[in-house]
Amino acid sequence: MSFAPGILQGKSAIVTGGATGIGSFIVRKLGTLGAKVGIVSRKQENLLKAVKDFKEEDGIDVAWRTGDVRDPDGIKKAFDELAGEIGGIDILVCNAAGNFICPTEELSWNGWRTVIEIDLNGTFNCCQAALLHLKAATDGGRVISISTTQADFGWPGAAHAGAAKSGIQNLMKTLAAEWGQYGIRANWISPGPIEGTEGVDRLIIQQGLGDQVKKNIPLGTFGEGDDIANAVVFLSSDTGKYVSGAGLAVDGASQWNRQR
Ligand code: HXC
Repeated sequence: MSFAPGILQGKSAIVTGGATGIGSFIVRKLGTLGAKVGIVSRKQENLLKAVKDFKEEDGIDVAWRTGDVRDPDGIKKAFDELAGEIGGIDILVCNAAGNFICPTEELSWNGWRTVIEIDLNGTFNCCQAALLHLKAATDGGRVISISTTQADFGWPGAAHAGAAKSGIQNLMKTLAAEWGQYGIRANWISPGPIEGTEGVDRLIIQQGLGDQVKKNIPLGTFGEGDDIANAVVFLSSDTGKYVSGAGLAVDGASQWNRQR
């Protein structure tokens, strides 16, 4: 089951961190539903492989630039160039993120700073860099940030990412309030554990927590990348036009089953 073919025809989208993981599912979905897509991430080898796969497996041409969301000037340049290539920016998906598990009492200042800079400051940088283009979007620009359900709880071992993702959620609320006058909608999606992603592999499976986490998911399975991508389409298209400043959990209800 999917959305109507061509539902995103005429739209242009940038997805940060779009070469791998959840980001790559979002790119495939937006592209196959008709959007022109550009991706930005740090590693050229990831970008080149992804763009080849998108073409061969999905028949979509995806524009790309290397860039680090921590670098505001570099991101502005990348976004402006991509906007020129794909015809503006109607949809910005702030997906790039960094994370690692480390108890707070062992976390160095630089470790804390690094994740805050990628996740929270990086999202701010991308929103600022896209603003002029989003203002020009014919049907109202869309900002969609990828958060996590963990942002609404304590997150032992990931104080940096939990604080950053909570900050992102509040930033989306503020942008919804400030940029509504420009027709821009700002929302976030909170994925639960999505199978096959680096986040789940490194933060759950490699920590030996796979079975335990799965047992606590009321719907009984890890999510799929397409579950997140479909939520992005809802928020990006006309279907989501009156939704702004809101969060959508896509997590199999796992956040509501946290008894120890
Ligand atoms: C303790 C660590 C560490 C670890 C890095 N550091 N990894 N400390 N335990 N495992 C510390 C370093 O020692 C250093 O501090 C500081 O963090 C910066 O590290 P660098 O390696 O120099 O940073 P950088 O190369 O910029 O890498 C950023 C990164 C990295 C976040 C550390 O992991 C990364 O780029 N990851 C790629 C993307 C990613 O993580 N994606 C998954 C996101 S999943 P010192 O003090 O030594 O200088 C997600 C949601 C998951 O966000 C939800 C699951 C339910």
